[in-house]
Amino acid sequence: MASLTSQLPILIFLFVTAFTSAESQSFIGVNYGQVADNLPAPAATAKLLQSTAIKQVRLYGSDPDVIKALANTGIGIVIGIANGAIPSLAADPNAAAQWVNSNVVPFYPASNITLINVGNEVLFSNDQGLISQLLPAMRNVQSALAAASLGGKVRVSSVHAMTLLSQSDPPSSGRFNPALVDVLKGLLAFQRDNASPFAINPYPFFAYQSDPRPDTLAFCLFQPNAGRVDPGSGIKYMNMFDAQVDAVKSALNAIGFNDIDILVAETGWPYRGDSNEVGPSVENAKAYNGNLIQHLRSMVGTPLIPGKPVETYIFALYDEDLKPGPTSERSFGLFKLDLSPTYDAGLSKSSQTPSTPSGTPSPKPTPSPKPTTSSKWCVPKTGGVSDAQLQANLDYACGHGIDCSAIQPGGACFDPNTVASHAAYAMNLYYQTVGTDPMNCDFSQTATLTSTNPSYNSCVYPGGGSTSKLPFEAGKVDTMSINGSSKVGNLLSIRNKVLVYLFLFLIYSLSL
Ligand SMILES: *[C@@H]1O[C@H](CO)[C@@H](O)[C@H](O)[C@H]1NC(C)=O
Ligand SMILES: *[C@@H]1O[C@H](CO)[C@@H](O)[C@H](O)[C@H]1NC(C)=O
Repeated sequence: MASLTSQLPILIFLFVTAFTSAESQSFIGVNYGQVADNLPAPAATAKLLQSTAIKQVRLYGSDPDVIKALANTGIGIVIGIANGAIPSLAADPNAAAQWVNSNVVPFYPASNITLINVGNEVLFSNDQGLISQLLPAMRNVQSALAAASLGGKVRVSSVHAMTLLSQSDPPSSGRFNPALVDVLKGLLAFQRDNASPFAINPYPFFAYQSDPRPDTLAFCLFQPNAGRVDPGSGIKYMNMFDAQVDAVKSALNAIGFNDIDILVAETGWPYRGDSNEVGPSVENAKAYNGNLIQHLRSMVGTPLIPGKPVETYIFALYDEDLKPGPTSERSFGLFKLDLSPTYDAGLSKSSQTPSTPSGTPSPKPTPSPKPTTSSKWCVPKTGGVSDAQLQANLDYACGHGIDCSAIQPGGACFDPNTVASHAAYAMNLYYQTVGTDPMNCDFSQTATLTSTNPSYNSCVYPGGGSTSKLPFEAGKVDTMSINGSSKVGNLLSIRNKVLVYLFLFLIYSLSL
């Protein structure tokens, strides 16, 4: 191992530089709450964020020190307007213009402000006056942005609690509280006109607290579980996050807003709580946030929003020591005050490959790619493999560093758009990428090796004894089958993956 040890710095360097060019993951964000008296300085926070894979930050207000500190970082900034400011913004277009002129115009575009949330959980407030002023306030802010030539650049939304839904289980039955539907339709029509996302706060953590069975915990933490079949749609859900997002999607569809994007403004899991609180622990927080990040990166989306990760802001960047309530309320922080991670959630730039398996645990990532001369492809067994199992295989494979772009919309293997077809592609690519050892084509005994080439039309399955056993070669085949400008990015991402496996192999070797 001596020669490997001597090459360690070079490999680490390659590994790190590969990731600075990694594909953009603008769907991973974090909430920067400031109900605290001990937070690190904004400049230190901006530096911290730049060292991570976090591409977006959500503020609850519009603290100019923070907005300025984030200038020229490229990090997307979501700012907020407090509920208390809504009446004046609704009543007076000039108040909105003034707000935009002092909170957005001086900082944009150096500070990459992307979205303004007018109010937080206003519909949950039960304050009819405030509720009726929300849309007029949003309109005035929108007009003020347009007047400042920022229309379409900075969008306007509002954040809602999950309690907006009167029904959410099973996901296909998701419906908004009928008493709020008229107000919502007005808000949504406005948001459709301005292409702004519907922002919601789903918390599997609270779902677990209200149903604290071990089964529910695994379902909430994206860990192996039996899944839950939605009798309305026949879809088997493997995790609570997807179930909650899809309940919102169903509710939007039910009132005719199928075309509105969903944005998860808050979700998270506390790492600490009071002795009478069920759920908080470092282990659970790490599992939830770590597996959520993997799930988002896999680009699988949710069953009702396939192939597209939901833009998600994890709660929260730091603990907020001045928040009232149980200890858990003050213990959601991903980072400690000394800027070190509370636990490894897989957010650092150099850990963009998942470290711990989630979903189906059976195929272990083999650290050393073995370029054997296999002339086989790995495909699902015929018959008896459920869609839920296939979905779990798909999640697992795409969550483990392979390039699943070919099965995303526009990719050469997107059609047929079925879980069986997408899973087959991903399982084979996983097998070809991590090493063509039969053990990597197991997937809880749902996969098998075949010598029949499953490729069709322009969809090329890597493998089959051509020169495409090595991950890089697999990438070439993949690249050729994909149209247009993503070619270079695709090659880059394959290069990243090769380096990941080299790196894992190295760590593995050194630990022997
Ligand atoms: C601003 O942030 C968004 C979201 O992260 C990103 O897509 C965009 O590229 C950023 N813009 C700049 C100029 O960096
Ligand atoms: C590739 O490009 C051609 C021509 O632009 C188009 O007809 C075809 O649908 C594209 N294929 C995919 C998979 O995007």
